[in-house]
Amino acid sequence: MDTPGIEHAAVCIQSGDIVAFPTETVYGLGADATNDKAVARIFEAKERPQFNPLIVHFNEIDAVWKETGPSEVAIKLAKAFWPGPLTLVLNRASDCKLSPLVSAGLDSVAVRVPAHVGAQLLLTEAGVPIAAPSANRSGSISPTTAEHVYTSLGDRVPLILDGGSCDVGLESTIVDLTADVPAVLRPGGISKNALQRVLDTFVDQPKNAKPTDETAPKAPGQLLSHYAPNTSVRLSATHKKMGDVLLGFGPVEGATLNLSQSGDLLEAAANFFAMLHQLDAMNASCIAVSPIPATGLGEAINDRLRRAAAIRD
Ligand code: TXA
Ligand code: MG
Repeated sequence: MDTPGIEHAAVCIQSGDIVAFPTETVYGLGADATNDKAVARIFEAKERPQFNPLIVHFNEIDAVWKETGPSEVAIKLAKAFWPGPLTLVLNRASDCKLSPLVSAGLDSVAVRVPAHVGAQLLLTEAGVPIAAPSANRSGSISPTTAEHVYTSLGDRVPLILDGGSCDVGLESTIVDLTADVPAVLRPGGISKNALQRVLDTFVDQPKNAKPTDETAPKAPGQLLSHYAPNTSVRLSATHKKMGDVLLGFGPVEGATLNLSQSGDLLEAAANFFAMLHQLDAMNASCIAVSPIPATGLGEAINDRLRRAAAIRD
């Protein structure tokens, strides 16, 4: 990874493409976190059948506070561990410029300032925060070399910055600060002992429970509660009933909003959470949704719609 490579990667990020890049923990699959369509490309490449929220990377601490509501604890942790392998889950600021897709529609966002020099240079050169999950296909292990990325994603990622092997080799520690008591959602590069030196108290994640595991026992802040609209949702709707708003897909008539007139799933994924929020705010009796093909990104969209339609009574 050299200066021309970083400059090229920064241009790719700015033009809405995805780029794999090294961090001190694992390689990330990055896109402009403020660009809905660019973020949708990450999910497309990873073949994730679900919209899990992503970590957003910043080149400096102050830039993080512009997008989030910082608390005393957040500032304390940032001073102690950033730049470095710690991710904080914080509330989104009211004027947050990050795509709703990085939060999977939630009011919170996971953020970190990586310590890797190459990642820092890329972030500075791109001039935007970069959303990046680990650069592997869904279900496989996190990559710690450029070769791992290529083996897992191949040509699905147009550019891989090679920075050798990652120093930490483990993902970042995730601490959720959105509840009263900080909660460790994922152990990682910053040890619990190190956290203990800075935090008075915190809730530990129960063993075996993953942050995204919905069957795990619920403890404060531990469970990733998925965004669901307040309005009820009707799937595979062919028409609008009285009092309905219609979320269209493809060339449907009478849609209140349309995910993609041309039936493009990438565009639909990019619009999905923002449009769902908009329709929910209209206080209709029901949000009717056009059928969406269950292929590619349609799988993740349908997964989220099914949850939204099921959470009733
Ligand atoms: O070390 C790392 O953290 C790497 C490098 C690339 O930074 N990234 C990484 O991202 O491991 P990923 O997407 O593989 O894991 C992110 C985890 C997921 O388990 C996700 O559910 C959780 O962070 N997460 C993200 N946003 C969240 C939020 N708003 N609330 C709760 N959990 C969140
Ligand atoms: Mg991962």
